[in-house]
Amino acid sequence: MSQRIQALRGMNDILPEETGWWRRFHDHVQAVMDLYGYREIILPVMEATELFKRSVGEATDIVEKEMFTFLDREKTSMSLRPEGTAVCVRAGIEHGILHNQQQRLWYRGPMFRHERPQAGRYRQFHQIGVEAFGMAGPELDVEVIAMSARILRSLGLLDPAADSGLRLELNSLGTPDTRAEYRAALVAFLQKHEAQLDDDSRRRLSTNPLRVLDSKNPQTQELLAGAPVMADYLDAESRAHFDQVQAALKETGIPFILNPKLVRGLDYYTRTVFEWTTTRLGAQGTVCAGGRYDGLVGQLGGADTPATGFAMGVERIVQLCRAVAIPAGIEENQPPHAYLCWMGEAAYLPAMRLAEELRSTSRIRLLCNAGGGGFKAQLKRADKSGADFALILGEEELNASQCQVKPLRGDGPQQAIALDKIKDYLLEKLGS
Ligand code: HAM
Repeated sequence: MSQRIQALRGMNDILPEETGWWRRFHDHVQAVMDLYGYREIILPVMEATELFKRSVGEATDIVEKEMFTFLDREKTSMSLRPEGTAVCVRAGIEHGILHNQQQRLWYRGPMFRHERPQAGRYRQFHQIGVEAFGMAGPELDVEVIAMSARILRSLGLLDPAADSGLRLELNSLGTPDTRAEYRAALVAFLQKHEAQLDDDSRRRLSTNPLRVLDSKNPQTQELLAGAPVMADYLDAESRAHFDQVQAALKETGIPFILNPKLVRGLDYYTRTVFEWTTTRLGAQGTVCAGGRYDGLVGQLGGADTPATGFAMGVERIVQLCRAVAIPAGIEENQPPHAYLCWMGEAAYLPAMRLAEELRSTSRIRLLCNAGGGGFKAQLKRADKSGADFALILGEEELNASQCQVKPLRGDGPQQAIALDKIKDYLLEKLGS
């Protein structure tokens, strides 16, 4: 036997046992997008590397060490997308759909980051994301946060009984100017205590000092208790904006906690940032994250356009649904209603015709036996498929233009039904 080839590290196969949960998630997402008037945009998975450097930021972990970057045959540097916001902005500018317009967009699909794989952290993972352009007011921040809450709520994850541990963390990063001021104050503070910092934070001190606030090191966190706080540096407009976001979240019944250390790992944010986090998923507890990024469109060559959005990690959401045992059943792929067993050459064409006729109702989910086998083996397959009925088409039945209908769940009698009546018979059964 030749050697087997395995999946790449951190790149997962999502098997059919799990895809039902994904489908359920996407059904809820689609419903919420429709409710809020967001339209889907489908974007490439590869882009010019430069795009992410200029948006996510050169000094971020994502760009510095996590991108899958290649030279193509023309020696152009391209990267698998590590996130969707920059791609969406690039597309929006390129197609002229952002300038002087309001756009509410959403996307889904795989993202790629070369991180050290662990539970909840993968090299290929999936996001659904929303991006709204052309609206500067706090109402848009509230809208996208409310959408994220509605998706989580519709999945049952915000139901207190589910005990998902989810909470909404909120912060404001102000404007680039106020952030620069805060950054200087933070650097001055950290430099005074540099000896107490670990290597990682010391490195970040010169490259991306705000990320020191994110440090997982308890000693650093203790030190940060005395550090300057971003909220004290906000300009009056950003402060008013943030107050209004908070007021509307209260008004609409979306609880949140303020986290002045929430800075996000991507450079493009301004003003409101937020994350939905839980302790139920171990170290990778952020299931959704986003915020405002008023400077990014201009930074990527478009006309200045305010924008805000978020992305949810599908793997983490599914994992959380499973961890808190969201009601079983709905999330499974649906079993067929009927399984058609047929045998013998003479039954081939009538079986094919019957199968397609039943499916043409658009209501009867039907598995048709393939790969031969005696009736006993076929009935076994029928049972395993989870179907409610086995339909049996053999020589005897054909001669009588009939089909045997055998209930597989419950104990109704097996019945011979005329071939041209089976459709109605099954539809009536499904209706009841
Ligand atoms: P992000 O925080 O980098 O933000 O990612 C958003 C979400 O994607 C995370 O909260 C997490 O659920 C999931 N995620 C990220 N990395 C991984 C990974 N390695 N494995 C599994 N899941 C992961 C963004 O991507 C921004 N584009 C969000 C945004 C949209 N901001 C404004 N608009």
